[in-house]
Order: sequence, then structure tokens, then C-alpha cells
Amino acid sequence: MASVLIVSLLVVLDRIKSARAIPTYSPTNLTTNRPSNSFAQCIDYNIPLNITSENVVLNITPFHNDFDVVDLVTDFCRKVTNTTVFDPIGGLQNVTSTYQIAGIFCSPKNSGALGREKTVILGTHGVHYDGRYWDSSCKPQEYSFVEGVVKEGYSAFFYNRLGTRKSEKQSGYTNQAAPQTQFLAALASLLRHSPYTHAIGKLHSVVLVGQSFGSYLSNAVLSTCPTLVDAAVLTGFSFASDASTSNKIVFEAFAPRIAAHLHLSRFSALDTGYLTFPDKSAQLSTFFKKPAYEPAAANYAHEIAQPFAIAEILTLGLVKLLAPLFTGLVLLAAGEFDFAVCAGESRSTFEMQTLQSIFPNSRLIEEFVQLGVDHGVNFGQNATGFYKDIVGFLGMAGF
Ligand SMILES: *[C@@H]1O[C@H](CO)[C@@H](O)[C@H](O)[C@H]1NC(C)=O
Ligand SMILES: *[C@@H]1O[C@H](CO)[C@@H](O)[C@H](O)[C@H]1NC(C)=O
Ligand SMILES: *[C@@H]1O[C@H](CO)[C@@H](O)[C@H](O)[C@H]1NC(C)=O
Ligand SMILES: *[C@@H]1O[C@H](CO)[C@@H](O)[C@H](O)[C@H]1NC(C)=O
Ligand SMILES: *[C@@H]1O[C@H](CO)[C@@H](O)[C@H](O)[C@H]1NC(C)=O
Repeated sequence: MASVLIVSLLVVLDRIKSARAIPTYSPTNLTTNRPSNSFAQCIDYNIPLNITSENVVLNITPFHNDFDVVDLVTDFCRKVTNTTVFDPIGGLQNVTSTYQIAGIFCSPKNSGALGREKTVILGTHGVHYDGRYWDSSCKPQEYSFVEGVVKEGYSAFFYNRLGTRKSEKQSGYTNQAAPQTQFLAALASLLRHSPYTHAIGKLHSVVLVGQSFGSYLSNAVLSTCPTLVDAAVLTGFSFASDASTSNKIVFEAFAPRIAAHLHLSRFSALDTGYLTFPDKSAQLSTFFKKPAYEPAAANYAHEIAQPFAIAEILTLGLVKLLAPLFTGLVLLAAGEFDFAVCAGESRSTFEMQTLQSIFPNSRLIEEFVQLGVDHGVNFGQNATGFYKDIVGFLGMAGF
């Protein structure tokens, strides 16, 4: 299986290389409400990615209404016994298609003496958000990850995952982990060779940073394409899993509802395969822990909440995480009270996980929990300290 993946990836990378001759980008210069005291200069891009991925064909009936949604959520989340087996995987199919992904490249207005701007941090957000997870317009100097890392001299590229914001919309029944892993690999490869990074010239290093679902995708790239990037920072993520840390229960806690039925004006472009929180409380219960956040940040997070695709959730279990060939660096971090990946208390979960078994050849593996906060670390208290810790890791690692 591993060799199959490597072969198909080589095919994909080959396609990317051959596509390089034609212009594959278009700057749109959309602004992201940067504060006047921003450390970053940023350009927006729409990037067509023509990739092939081995996709799951879901064996589920499309939702007509929320009765259908809650029933599937129950089937998926309840314990598995010989009378409750739920297998939504209908088959596999290779799909080649071109997908439009909207991303933003930011580099320091003033490059520092360390040359850090040639390290690009490539951010992949999780479900319920879009690229703004990395670049809050609410108190950017406190909450924007981009500001936090660019201030320290690094460059950042962050994008909206398929189905969110200005990236292309596809059916929520087909938008899934496999093509999204290929997008991330393709973006990492393009960054090394493309005009997106003209402000800094040829870059030295690519560091992936993920949050939650975005950490699954980042980890999948380390697994399937181990020499493509230099390091990965996996946030809102953990590896230990037993009954007490089952992350299926978080799917019930999201209390998902059909997004287009709930907010027709905002999400009319999405089919019924896209789901979202019914209200702010469901978001609070899975992303925020009192007293470690301020209401303004939680309100902002709710304002920018984005639907996720049912296919993203149902294909999560197939994502390849073991990365024996990856020799770069890995930092794993989660909030102290992360509900989604640590069932609400992370220290004990982190004690159970053995990262060396996932990344046996990594040169450096570090992990830490961020005090007090839940899954939405970037909108929690002391997000600035969280970014400082990440920057500290990168600096220690020589980036
Ligand atoms: C977009 O921004 C770049 C760099 O800031 C600038 O050189 C270019 O003229 C802008 N293009 C448009 C269409 O505004
Ligand atoms: C299903 O499980 C029950 C109890 O766990 C057991 O008694 C029964 O024999 C099982 N049925 C089959 C078909 O395996
Ligand atoms: C997809 O393509 C790969 C590489 O060509 C092949 O090994 C694999 O069997 C294909 N999968 C399916 C479902 O056809
Ligand atoms: C994607 O690339 C393949 C070959 O590399 C080509 O056959 C196909 O037409 C392209 N698809 C789109 C939608 O551009
Ligand atoms: C914020 O985080 C930094 C880095 O982890 C830590 O040193 C600092 O003590 C934290 N501050 C507060 C108020 O928690």
C-alpha cells in the first residue's frame, strides 16, 4: 500500500512540475483588513491545482433534513457492536480534477538579519473555520498567528480549504481528506518553485502548521511525501486513542445541522452535505473553556464559523499518520483542556502517546500543552504566548 501511495504521489508531483511552465497563479490583491501596524505584507492568490487522488465513494443517502443528519451522527458516534456496525465507505475511485484554492502569502515588511523570511510556514486550518483561523481580524496583535510569526521574521502562507470562503465549493459528499492531502502537498511543492514567494526570493524551508483536521492533513503529507517539507507543527491534535479519548464524541457535541437550511443567505452555494453548529453554545462547548478566553474572541470565532463537509469527517479514519520516512522536526501542541482530541484534558492523553512510534526517524520531537485553553487555541487566552512557543521551537531547530 505504501508503495502505491508513493507511486501515485510521484505521478502527482510530476504533473505539478509539468504544469509549472504555464502560469498557474493569479494575484487578486484582496486585502485581509491588516492593521496599519501590521508586520506583514500580504498578497492573495487563486491557485488552480490539478491533482489525482484516490477518493472514497460514500455509501450514504444524501441528507434531506436535520432528521437525517442527527441519525447519521448517532450511527457514526455510538459504540460499535455486532448490531451497530456503521460503514459509510462504499468504495475507492481515482479522481483527477482541477480545484481552485484561495491562499494568502505574507512576508515581513522588514526582513531581519537572521534570514528567517526564507522559511515559509504553511498553515492548514481545521473544520468549522477557514483561513482566518490563522489571521484573526479581532485584535490581530493578540490572536493572529500570521502576525505572531511574521513579527519574528518568518513568512507564512495560509489558505482556505476546499469548500470554505473563496476556495472552490464542491459537494459535501465528495469533499474529503484524500484530495485535500494532495492540495497541501502540491502547495508545499509549488511554494518552493513558484512566483508566489517572489517577495523573499527562493525559500530555504517549508514548515507545515496544522490545526485539528489540518493537522491530520499535515501529518498525512509527512507520511506520504516525507521529503517534501522540513518540519511540522501539529496543533489541536493528539495520538493516544482509547475509549476515554475517543474523538468521535466531539462529532455529537458539534450538534451539526445542514448549513444551507440554517443560514440560507450565507451558505446557499453549499449542498446538504455541509454541516455547521446550530448555535454559538455548540461552538463554545467544543472550542472554548472558561475562563481562558474573552467573549470578543469567541464571538468573532462564531462570526467566521464555516460549514464542514460530511465526507471530511467520514474519511478522517483513513488518513495515514505513521511517518517512518520523515526525518524532519515535529512539534505537537494542544490546549490543556482540548475536548476534541483529548476528551477535555490533554496532559494525561499526551502522557499516553508515544510519538517515537509515529515518527521514528524524526530528528527532533517536542510536545506541549497550552495552559487553560480548549481546542480553539488561536482564539484562547495567551495565544501570543502560544505563538512564541512555536517560534521558540523553530528557532531552536535552526529555522
Ligand atoms: C497587487 O499588489 C502588488 C504588490 O503589492 C502590486 O505590485 C500590484 O500592482 C497590485 N496589483 C493590482 C491589480 O492592484
Ligand atoms: C453479538 O454479540 C452478542 C453479545 O455481545 C453475542 O451474544 C452474539 O452471539 C453476537 N452475535 C453474532 C452474530 O456474532
Ligand atoms: C488509483 O491509482 C493508483 C496508481 O495508479 C492505483 O495503484 C490504484 O489501484 C488506483 N485505485 C483505484 C481505486 O483504482
Ligand atoms: C488535469 O491534468 C490532466 C493530465 O495531467 C488533464 O488530462 C486534465 O484535462 C486536467 N484536468 C483539468 C480539469 O484541467
Ligand atoms: C503565556 O505563554 C507563555 C509561553 O508559553 C508563558 O511563558 C507565559 O507565562 C504565559 N502567560 C500567561 C499569563 O499565562
